[in-house]
Amino acid sequence: MGKKTMISMAVVRRLPKYYRYLGELLRNDVERISSKELSERIGFTASQIRQDLNNFGDFGQQGYGYNVRALYEEIGKILGLNKHYNTVIVGAGNIGQAVANYTNFERLGFHLLGIFDRNPKLIGISIRDKVIQDVDNLEEFLRSNHVDIGIICVPKEQAQKIADIFVKCGIKAIWNFAPTDLNVPDDVIVENVHLSESLLTLSYRLNEAELFKEKIGR
Ligand code: NAI
Repeated sequence: MGKKTMISMAVVRRLPKYYRYLGELLRNDVERISSKELSERIGFTASQIRQDLNNFGDFGQQGYGYNVRALYEEIGKILGLNKHYNTVIVGAGNIGQAVANYTNFERLGFHLLGIFDRNPKLIGISIRDKVIQDVDNLEEFLRSNHVDIGIICVPKEQAQKIADIFVKCGIKAIWNFAPTDLNVPDDVIVENVHLSESLLTLSYRLNEAELFKEKIGR
């Protein structure tokens, strides 16, 4: 099932949203949905949805709509959610603890294996069932446990150092919350999360109308 062509990153970035909405539909026992109805819920145009979903095979039938479960499962597979991933978090401050406490990640297949910090006041404290460990033990931990994803929640000055340890120990995917660009080899994937960029976009949009008025001199 599914066409074997590469999917563009623009489409990939929209997939989690499809996945989330289709999951909600399934929980509400909806079996089929038209691109028009999906468009009303998601906010993408119906033609965008048809184009995107065409990438994965024939889930829609003219006049009949999409098979919600089949599409949900296929998108889940494409997102790699049929697998389980072991993760570690380095930096057990505000962000690190928030990520560790978000149990929904476990449900999606991301299993938190360990959490590390360098602050003696935090080391030994438990977050959910995980005891915060000394970051000095990180390398040894990574060598004796299979970890797929390293999560960086330290201040930006410390981020590269942690990324280097991840790379040295064979981690191929980094989820980086520190506001800095990491230098990693080509075979290591970094996904940056910048809440402040999203906030600045919101601030731009809040002021957009005013800027536009100024521009046209009203
Ligand atoms: P925080 O100060 O509460 O936590 C940072 C933790 O990292 C502290 O517990 C500290 O002891 C630990 N740490 C520092 N150096 C370390 C090292 N070498 N090894 C192990 N642990 C170390 O900071 P917060 O608010 O949790 O922010 C963490 C990072 O996330 C910062 O880089 C911050 O700029 C960034 N941030 C990112 C956001 C985003 O949108 N991605 C939003 C807010 C913060």
